[in-house]
Amino acid sequence: AQPRALAAARPKDEPDPDDGRQRVTVFFGTQTGTAEGFAKALAEEAKARYDRAVFKVVDLDDYAAEDEEYEEKLKKENIALFFLATYGDGEPTDNAARFYKWFSEGNEKGEWLSNLRFGVFGLGNRQYEHFNKIGKVVDQLLAEQGGKRIVPVGLGDDDQCIEDDFNAWKELLWPELDKLLRQEDDSSAAATPYTAAIPEYRVVFVKPEDATNINKSFSLTNGHAVYDIQHPCRANVSVRRELHTPASDRSCIHLEFDIAGTGLKYETGDHVGVYAENCIETVEEAEKLLGHSPDTLFSIYADQEDGTPLSGGSLPPPFPSPCTIRTALTRYADLLNSPKKSALLALAAHASDPKEAERLRHLASPAGKKEYSQWIVTSQRSLLEVMLEFPSAKPPLGVFFAAISPRLQPRYYSISSSPRMAPTRIHVTCALVYGPTPTGRIHKGVCSTWMKHSTPLEESEECSWAPIFVRQSNFKLPADPTVPIVMIGPGTGLAPFRGFLQERLALKEAGVELGRAILFFGCRNRKMDFIYEDELNNFVDTGALSELVVAFSREGPTKEYVQHKMAQKAAELWGIISQGGYIYVCGDAKGMARDVHRTLHTIIQEQGSLDNSKAEGYVKSLQVEGRYLRDVW
Ligand code: 2AM
Repeated sequence: AQPRALAAARPKDEPDPDDGRQRVTVFFGTQTGTAEGFAKALAEEAKARYDRAVFKVVDLDDYAAEDEEYEEKLKKENIALFFLATYGDGEPTDNAARFYKWFSEGNEKGEWLSNLRFGVFGLGNRQYEHFNKIGKVVDQLLAEQGGKRIVPVGLGDDDQCIEDDFNAWKELLWPELDKLLRQEDDSSAAATPYTAAIPEYRVVFVKPEDATNINKSFSLTNGHAVYDIQHPCRANVSVRRELHTPASDRSCIHLEFDIAGTGLKYETGDHVGVYAENCIETVEEAEKLLGHSPDTLFSIYADQEDGTPLSGGSLPPPFPSPCTIRTALTRYADLLNSPKKSALLALAAHASDPKEAERLRHLASPAGKKEYSQWIVTSQRSLLEVMLEFPSAKPPLGVFFAAISPRLQPRYYSISSSPRMAPTRIHVTCALVYGPTPTGRIHKGVCSTWMKHSTPLEESEECSWAPIFVRQSNFKLPADPTVPIVMIGPGTGLAPFRGFLQERLALKEAGVELGRAILFFGCRNRKMDFIYEDELNNFVDTGALSELVVAFSREGPTKEYVQHKMAQKAAELWGIISQGGYIYVCGDAKGMARDVHRTLHTIIQEQGSLDNSKAEGYVKSLQVEGRYLRDVW
């Protein structure tokens, strides 16, 4: 038996392994919260089904402080489920990066996981080349290292309805868990179908005279030791400039955040995360739909008055309050994405008109699958548009913020400056997202619209500001500046290369010898969207850039893209590659980066006189060596 003192010292959430109950660990690698939400929902449902098992939901970053600890702890797991999202160019989420690196690199341990039974559900988007790469790789490695797969890897596709994929995967999982976690005499739960409770924050309305400490924003005090997604840094907008000429019917904004004195640091090639605000028209519409006046003050809690957590502890921490409805809707509510099926069910629960409730439930049901796909997903109907169609649905604020409107997420941009040139500024190059959706609504991207209408310090002391933070990347110049480089970045894909070139110029001015650098840039028309033209020419004049190659896609009778220009310079590119040079690609992942990848493959195959599979292997090795780097979205 355990000595008493030791048993008492065990943290509350660590179940005693001797209590005879099976333990299941549910891991998540999440960026925007979807994987975390699925992990928690699964654990909730599982707890209701299996009273003889203990389910624990774990953030992969919190699981272990060191690689050895991952190994030590994983070895002891009996049943583990993984919810793993894939981002950008087939990358893990920030909170899974350390685990993924360790797990995918340390492959020589043999079948050390033979005690483990596992299931993996991946979250990805089929439009991308590396669809669900992280989920697939972890699933395969777990099996190779001795783990027993209890259910095929789930391939959640956010391009359609990822909730459906999750539900379908769960249906495969339950019978397997039944075998592992239920005993013969156990008849609990199986018979009663499980319906998830609608999560809800506790909301307390506050009288203005009672409100101290009103939160108009994130509770921001600059000077944190580390700024991150949870602890952003308040930064003023110091400069805002339109980069397109008036002849263009689109817009691209150059923005500079002032980080002087904040302690926020960045490196060339990093990303900046920006928390933007919804525009006032969107917020006013939401206020009307919810039936509250904008000045209403409220406080929001994820626990009961006695401190017990609501919804089994699965609610994300509430945003800072007390605040007004206007502040909450402006800063924290995602109002323009399409509602999830779970949001429709929560709306249905608060629709006073039974017909509306019925239709909402139908849309969220298996029978309404096709309708949901067409009426919501394909039509890109926003949450507000849907709410407008169901005017009797008036959810209370606690339900709205917990179950209907997801938290507004930060948007990431490749930083377009170098700290060597701009140590106290973070530059962003942002294309305005603006255009009609199938329903005729004009969709305005939240962050790009905010940037376009922001007021820079140059213009007014009352300038705009945003909570921001830096996300490190491995999109970096070669450590040796004499190594030749090729940069491919059409449109706003130019952003990190402007930073690279600023850095090279600073090095050059400091007397450092530079290797050759070629930039392939693409835009529609020299007179409209040739962004930073003067600066790029200046980089050539000063020698920071050896050659600037521009593809204009809408000037001549046929489209000319960066990859066409690359093909014309095949021999020169092959020369650079075979001499140990670096290739960088930045921009749209779905079209451009895929086409550029194919062109690169062709160049290597033809110039290197390789067959198809050898060329493929060559490209792979460039990637493994870190000489072919992509920053794509
Ligand atoms: P387009 O709009 O005329 O099609 C920056 O957006 C530039 O990238 C534009 O000139 C755009 O051309 C071009 N572009 C669009 N699709 C591309 C692709 N698949 N590969 C390369 N460039 C592309």
